[in-house]
Amino acid sequence: MRTPDPMLDLDIDRHKGKTISDQIATHIEHAIRSGVLIPGDRLPSWIDLASQLGVARGTVRSAYEKLIDRNMLVTAGSAGTRVAGTRQAELVEGQEPEQLLPPDAGYRTEEPLLFQLGVPASDAFPATLWSRLYKSAVQRTSTRVTYADPRGVPELREAIASHVAIARGVSCCADQIIITSGYRTALTIALQAIGVRGSQAWVEDPGYPVTRLALETMGIQPVAVPVDNHGLDVEKGRDLAPHAALAIVTAGQQAPTGVTLSPSRRAHLLEWAHVANSWLIEDDYLAELQLGGRSAHALAGEAGSERVIHIGTFSKTLSPAIGIGFLIAPPLLARRLIDEATWLHSTPNVASQTALATFLKEGHYLRHLRRMRELYSERRDILISSLEEAGFRDVTPAGLSVIVALPRGFDDQHIAMAAREVNFGPAPLSLWYSASGRGKAGLLLSVTNVSENRLGESCQRLKRCINIGTCPVPPTLFATSTS
Ligand SMILES: Cc1ncc(COP(=O)(O)O)c(C=O)c1O
Repeated sequence: MRTPDPMLDLDIDRHKGKTISDQIATHIEHAIRSGVLIPGDRLPSWIDLASQLGVARGTVRSAYEKLIDRNMLVTAGSAGTRVAGTRQAELVEGQEPEQLLPPDAGYRTEEPLLFQLGVPASDAFPATLWSRLYKSAVQRTSTRVTYADPRGVPELREAIASHVAIARGVSCCADQIIITSGYRTALTIALQAIGVRGSQAWVEDPGYPVTRLALETMGIQPVAVPVDNHGLDVEKGRDLAPHAALAIVTAGQQAPTGVTLSPSRRAHLLEWAHVANSWLIEDDYLAELQLGGRSAHALAGEAGSERVIHIGTFSKTLSPAIGIGFLIAPPLLARRLIDEATWLHSTPNVASQTALATFLKEGHYLRHLRRMRELYSERRDILISSLEEAGFRDVTPAGLSVIVALPRGFDDQHIAMAAREVNFGPAPLSLWYSASGRGKAGLLLSVTNVSENRLGESCQRLKRCINIGTCPVPPTLFATSTS
């Protein structure tokens, strides 16, 4: 239970028109309304507060009683006086607090759940090195009082330009790079710069649900274009929406299937964008973090990529907690993108950017990526064999996860909820499909945080969650019944 001291900044004005008791009540009310005090918080006793403020006890008592009368505080016997539990709900236009949480709030845990998608290994983050670089960056930058470059710290933009030239085959200069706080900010800047509200955008089906929802939020109609073993089906896209204003693709490793967009599809996509005067947004979220084999070059590195806006992020390769991504502006759109970033967005804090610049320039990033590729490949192999040993039949590697396919009719969302009860975080595959009805049921299991220790047991428990989430389990799901 919190016992904050909201009284520290209370200045009693004895010459004010208002009584002292009213001043105390107003101060506490303001602390509640602004969220400094939250339901359940305990207030100081009358005696303590009266002596802290140098006023009579009765004055404080009367202030508390006024707020108790208005249901903002409650007395709870020996537990003292507390902020009433329901007050916050009333403050925000009558909404229940849970309605105000982000839709995926349940997955925002401090430690990743087993199988949780989208988070890197928690035990392999170079914490000591990062803390040292960050501390030194804070020391170097904390005394600055000027506004930073709205495109981001030049040192970091230069380091990224050099890195993507080698690792992603993209040649650009630092002036084309805009540092953002991740994919979503970069996407927002791109959509605002293109000015496509009211138009159509191709999205991959299956594809990253956030992209679809972000487009809808921005007043853009997502058109679901199927993905097959060669990536986005460009011909289908042309049939469905030939004049779409843009297409968003995960060309390197498709999310969630992990498929790389084939060379001929790349050529067709670039040609379509050229002919239709449309834009391509490349979501390069895994970058060179390819398990097995060399990663394909970015679409922005291909000849004829003048209409590609490339978005990178350090969320998967390093950590989402660092909160840094970037956008590479094609020269045709650079002015507009930079204007959007300058007038409507701000960059992540300068110390994080500076630390990341050093991390890249001193070669730590490349070494870290090499280590992560090895670690994740090992973890993926262990996970696949443990799943197979537990009797799962249809298991396919896909980027940094594996997909466990479920037969038609299985409710993967229900199963994911049952798994959540035992602190597993698989994602239901069906949510990655548009509402077109061609969605498949399955579970996406991240390989990043699995370890050999008790994995067999965890796979058995996952199997039991499937039994709980679906009733009855058709015999086709598991090769043999081991539990
Ligand atoms: C396909 C895809 N793109 C982008 C992102 C998000 O990147 P960021 O953390 O930079 O918003 C994710 C996160 O899981 C993702 O799966």
